[in-house]
Amino acid sequence: MIPSTSQVLSLILFILCILSTLFTVTATNNIVSCLQNERDALLQFKSTLIDPNKNLASWNSSNCCNWIGIRCHNITHHVSRINLRNSNLQGEINPSLLTLQHLIHLDLSFNNFNFNPIPQFIGSIKSLRYLNLSTAGFSGEVPSSLGNLSSLHVLDLTILSYVSSDYVLHVSDSQWLSQLTALRDLEMSGVNFTFASSWLQDLNSLPHVKKLRFCYCGLRTIPLVLPHVNFTHLYFLDLSYNLINSTIPTWLFKITSLEYLDLSENGKFLHGLVPPDIRNLTSLYVLVLSFNAIDMSLAISQLGNLRKLQYLYSEYVMSPFHELGGNFSELGTTLRVLDLKLSSLTGSLPRWIGNFTNLQFLDVSTNSLSGEIPSSLGQLSALQVLTLGGNQFNGTVPESLGELPDLLSFDLSYNSLEGVMSETHFRELQNLLFLSISFNSLVLNVSGDWIPPSQLQVIHMSECSVGPGFPMWLSTQKNLLSLRLSHAGVSDAMPNWFWSLTPHLYDLDLSLNAIRGNVPSSLEFTSHKYILPFGGYISVRMDLSSNIFEGPLPHSVANIEYLRLSNNSFSGPLPQNVHKTMPQLKGLYLSMNNLSGTIPLKFCQMEHLEELDISLNSLMGELPDCWKDDAVLKVLDFSFSNLSGKIPFSVFSLPLVSLSLNNNKFSGEIPSSLQKCQSMLFLDLGHNKLTGNIPTWLGDRQLRLFTLILRSNMFTGSIPTQLSLINL
Ligand SMILES: *[C@@H]1O[C@H](CO)[C@@H](O)[C@H](O)[C@H]1NC(C)=O
Ligand SMILES: *[C@@H]1O[C@H](CO)[C@@H](O)[C@H](O)[C@H]1NC(C)=O
Ligand SMILES: *[C@@H]1O[C@H](CO)[C@@H](O)[C@H](O)[C@H]1NC(C)=O
Ligand SMILES: *[C@@H]1O[C@H](CO)[C@@H](O)[C@H](O)[C@H]1NC(C)=O
Ligand SMILES: *[C@@H]1O[C@H](CO)[C@@H](O)[C@H](O)[C@H]1NC(C)=O
Ligand SMILES: *[C@@H]1O[C@H](CO)[C@@H](O)[C@H](O)[C@H]1NC(C)=O
Ligand SMILES: *[C@@H]1O[C@H](CO)[C@@H](O)[C@H](O)[C@H]1NC(C)=O
Ligand SMILES: *[C@@H]1O[C@H](CO)[C@@H](O)[C@H](O)[C@H]1NC(C)=O
Ligand SMILES: *[C@@H]1O[C@H](CO)[C@@H](O)[C@H](O)[C@H]1NC(C)=O
Ligand SMILES: *[C@@H]1O[C@H](CO)[C@@H](O)[C@H](O)[C@H]1NC(C)=O
Ligand SMILES: *[C@@H]1O[C@H](CO)[C@@H](O)[C@H](O)[C@H]1NC(C)=O
Ligand SMILES: *[C@@H]1O[C@H](CO)[C@@H](O)[C@H](O)[C@H]1NC(C)=O
Repeated sequence: MIPSTSQVLSLILFILCILSTLFTVTATNNIVSCLQNERDALLQFKSTLIDPNKNLASWNSSNCCNWIGIRCHNITHHVSRINLRNSNLQGEINPSLLTLQHLIHLDLSFNNFNFNPIPQFIGSIKSLRYLNLSTAGFSGEVPSSLGNLSSLHVLDLTILSYVSSDYVLHVSDSQWLSQLTALRDLEMSGVNFTFASSWLQDLNSLPHVKKLRFCYCGLRTIPLVLPHVNFTHLYFLDLSYNLINSTIPTWLFKITSLEYLDLSENGKFLHGLVPPDIRNLTSLYVLVLSFNAIDMSLAISQLGNLRKLQYLYSEYVMSPFHELGGNFSELGTTLRVLDLKLSSLTGSLPRWIGNFTNLQFLDVSTNSLSGEIPSSLGQLSALQVLTLGGNQFNGTVPESLGELPDLLSFDLSYNSLEGVMSETHFRELQNLLFLSISFNSLVLNVSGDWIPPSQLQVIHMSECSVGPGFPMWLSTQKNLLSLRLSHAGVSDAMPNWFWSLTPHLYDLDLSLNAIRGNVPSSLEFTSHKYILPFGGYISVRMDLSSNIFEGPLPHSVANIEYLRLSNNSFSGPLPQNVHKTMPQLKGLYLSMNNLSGTIPLKFCQMEHLEELDISLNSLMGELPDCWKDDAVLKVLDFSFSNLSGKIPFSVFSLPLVSLSLNNNKFSGEIPSSLQKCQSMLFLDLGHNKLTGNIPTWLGDRQLRLFTLILRSNMFTGSIPTQLSLINL
């Protein structure tokens, strides 16, 4: 659902309207008194409910028309409406409701009826016109008796938590739906219709239906042929998140009343060419076709007919390559959202895109668009999101893009753009939060005292030429979450103010520059977890590798999960209390520095550490023998150092995949514990002073070694023939 300003406005009007009716009804209800048998029925209904929040406390006065949630007809005094939504009610629904023969509105949504089935007798409250049992805690088969509600206008059985949970309600045979001939609005999202194979034919008997929401219903089929299309009033159809294994049926395009059509997220199942007849749906204002295996190449050039279209989402579809052409340019002024990410677009981004003057969101990323970025984009003064990344755009970046005052997000990354971006390119971007121009051949040329017009949260300029001086304008950016300036030609001393920018950062990449200086002994990154839309979160990381940082390693790096400091000139010992001062580390990369001293025992106590690379340093002493089998270390690299002593027995109790101890001075025999290390794929013990026989079990089948390097040691005896069993 995409709320627009007009929808918000109409919602406000709607709420005002409801408030005013509530007010008048309450006023008139004071003179409406209640019928005794209906009051008794309501009390009986209450008696089998569990009402922990005492929402029904008012249900004791004599006039039941004044009770919370109850409304009576203003002349006949019959109870006409029960609205108990979101009241935390539990227990059982009492059949005493059948006494209320004039009940037209029953709303028990958002309660918690203990996974009881929906009571069959609700189908006998024949007067009902509105029934809302959405997310009310019912489970099991929806009773077909609901098909007796021939006056019903609205039926809502939506299970709102549908995407995350298993189905609780199901409809195995949808025939009863065809009897609800008065129905206007049917909402079934989250109800399992897997076996209801005639669902669409049954719905087609509903001549007045206007709105059908069947999102996440496990639908698998849709008829390709429908002799007579009865849906002549349908304006809203949502069939998203199903498994409809079909092409898009052409009868759909006969429903010219459609304003909102969502067929997204049927994945690999919904396939085939979208027919050009889509141009017949001239009332559409929302069209969502994303995440399907459909082919938009023919349809896209017909969409210009949809003169009311405001929202077009067609990302992640599997079309053959095609251009943005045909009638598409005529969409023009109505369109607000154009999402064509990963849609196999080729050719250029046409100049006429500048005529889409109400566009707020434009994403054509990850296509094969080429040629220059049209400067007419600068006319899209309402634009908030501009995403052109992952194409083959070439030439320079038009300065007109700096004239988009509402722009929040600007992404040009992964193209073939070249030339200079100057202050003019950002002139009016006062609202920009996200900026990515990485992986082009762009040069950023701004004056030393430039103050960017906004406080950016994300700056990605990897592979751009930003240096040689350290970008001083960064000092003005106090809200940074992610800064990537890898390989940006910065060859300068790191200013001290830089480290005061880190508290909100979760992502810092300054690798592959020539930045000089020390790193503070204590560094703090954000402790906030940035949760991704589909689960998981963004890990906190800092990459300063391949620069010329020097001095001691930072002592404490709170919250960082991946710390990359390889290929610098850090010197001195490894931090002693890593398990306390770097407790979140999952990956630590310190290769190619001048580190000395011994390996602190505390490394054995790092709970989350999966990868540790301290190769190419000057470490001395022995490898600690304190490794525990509940550790998660997979990759360990201490190669090219000065380590000596025996290879500890315990190191092979780790779930190692790769171990490199080569080019040290290790002595003694290969520990027999290696026999049990079945996860190991790569083992390099070459260039040490190991002695003894090469064990025959190295060729055992339970070891899955792909690479074993033992060269330049002092082994004796013969090379066991079993080694030939190793997969090479
Ligand atoms: C109804 O219940 C309310 C709250 O429980 C109580 O204050 C009131 O006295 C009761 N009225 C009658 C008529 O029982
Ligand atoms: C009763 O309600 C109807 C609409 O629901 C309204 O038109 C009518 O004026 C009301 N009558 C009285 C007496 O309030
Ligand atoms: C049913 O109730 C829920 C809230 O309890 C509401 O969000 C939804 O709009 C209602 N459905 C209809 C069709 O009115
Ligand atoms: C309701 O429908 C069922 C079948 O769906 C039928 O057996 C039953 O007699 C009907 N009940 C009423 C009260 O109409
Ligand atoms: C859907 O409902 C059918 C019964 O109609 C049941 O057999 C099936 O397991 C349900 N599927 C899921 C995913 O719950
Ligand atoms: C269309 O609706 C009418 C009732 O309005 C019904 O008689 C007819 O069978 C329906 N057609 C189909 C194909 O279901
Ligand atoms: C989709 O339907 C076709 C036949 O129409 C069938 O061959 C194919 O196996 C189905 N695919 C899936 C994933 O069910
Ligand atoms: C779409 O409109 C054209 C021209 O008006 C018509 O020939 C065609 O049959 C229509 N398509 C559908 C599916 O109704
Ligand atoms: C563009 O739309 C017009 C009607 O608006 C139609 O006559 C014409 O055939 C369409 N052109 C293309 C390429 O679809
Ligand atoms: C864009 O709009 C201008 C001015 O309204 C118009 O002259 C031009 O033809 C339009 N371009 C296209 C390709 O529609
Ligand atoms: C951009 O690429 C197109 C081919 O896609 C080429 O014809 C054009 O000369 C290139 N322009 C520049 C400025 O490199
Ligand atoms: C950068 O801008 C300055 C001042 O505007 C200009 O003199 C210089 O030539 C520019 N450098 C590049 C590489 O464009």
